[in-house]
Amino acid sequence: MPPEKKATILIKNIGQLITMQGPVPRVGKSMRDLGIIENGGIAAAGEEILAVGSSDEVQGRVSLAEGCTVIDAEGAVVTPGLIDPHTHPVFARTREKEFEMRLEGATYQEIARAGGGIRSSVRDLRETSSADLTANTHKRLDMLLSHGVTTVEGKSGYGLSTESEIKSLRVLRDLDAVHPMDIVPTFLGAHEVPDEYRDKREEYISLLIEEMIPAVVKDNLAEFSDIFCEEEVFDIEESRRIQTAAAKAGLKLKFHAEELASTGGAELAADLKAVSADHLVYISEAGMKAMAASGTVAVLLPGTTFSLGGKQYAPARNMIERGVVVSLSTDCNPGSSFSESLPMIISLAAVQMRLTAAEALSAVTVNAAVALDRGDKIGQLAAGRQADMVVWDMADYRELPYHYGVNLVSRVVKRGKPVVNRRILGNVS
Ligand code: NIG
Ligand code: FE
Repeated sequence: MPPEKKATILIKNIGQLITMQGPVPRVGKSMRDLGIIENGGIAAAGEEILAVGSSDEVQGRVSLAEGCTVIDAEGAVVTPGLIDPHTHPVFARTREKEFEMRLEGATYQEIARAGGGIRSSVRDLRETSSADLTANTHKRLDMLLSHGVTTVEGKSGYGLSTESEIKSLRVLRDLDAVHPMDIVPTFLGAHEVPDEYRDKREEYISLLIEEMIPAVVKDNLAEFSDIFCEEEVFDIEESRRIQTAAAKAGLKLKFHAEELASTGGAELAADLKAVSADHLVYISEAGMKAMAASGTVAVLLPGTTFSLGGKQYAPARNMIERGVVVSLSTDCNPGSSFSESLPMIISLAAVQMRLTAAEALSAVTVNAAVALDRGDKIGQLAAGRQADMVVWDMADYRELPYHYGVNLVSRVVKRGKPVVNRRILGNVS
């Protein structure tokens, strides 16, 4: 018999312990089932959850290791660590000037056509050192963590040359090693056609397929390949070629699709068995049907619609009714959505897309885990899963979308270690 594992961290007196135990992913009505334990407790040994149950039961069942951290939640809500499955955190400079231009009436596409937008971030990133990029990105990870995010997907995509894309992905790899956050790296060399290839886009596509993807795969720098499949960026046929090459090289697929216009990107993502297709504001009925059938996760980004001043949000209710797996993300980036607050995104999803608090929580836990192909490790609180947990300064989880625009995170525990303590609740021993 192996020696009995002892708890190194215990959270007791949890008013609502949102375990998310149950089906992975959550589709349709099951999105409303949070696997709640009232007056719950949870214990972890090292990085893994040891026991989940009522507070008394867990305290009776586990023995505490010497120096075990004991947190009294005082009736607060505890959820799994949130998962943000779509961010662009590696960039050199913010673009508040463009935000103001949009307030004055310019559109996102007009700014892009004039050489701003993604291409301006590319010019900035290319002349910024790895050390500075690492420091900037570190700050964004801290901000995400303080808002309850314990796993984040991070994309390259502001380099658009072999050297600068690799520089961006190395920043993510280095930060993953030193920061509490788990980072899932995505190659987004097909984010835009850079300045020097505007008149020879075919050559850029060849560079992506023949040089960049192989270089990224060789150094094991990315798990996913993503593409901006959109009018005036990469069309359906180009997207199919690039993503087919990426899949052949061993990368899993994600898509930016149907953000600004309906193009059939959702159907393409489903056809190529992509793990997720993201944005989907203008998805068609056929696109929803295809994604429901393929199990491709719809990662919806209402912060982008909000920040671009759009009137139309992705048809989340329709997708849920049709059995599409729905997730949510910040899309944190310097252009279309500059926010590290996933809770704010939950409020937007509630008010603008009519998601209930429970549906939104499913979207940012189990379903986001599936969007990162980690449905068996994170997103649920159950024995054997990774001990990523958030204590919230609220007694009812429905406060999460309702009490908007403020940070209600009290504590964050990542792989069994307390990493954020905002000291809203007292009583720590
Ligand atoms: O997800 N749509 C493409 N990429 C980002 C925006 C990037 C930028 O404007 O810098 C997005 O919205
Ligand atoms: Fe994006």
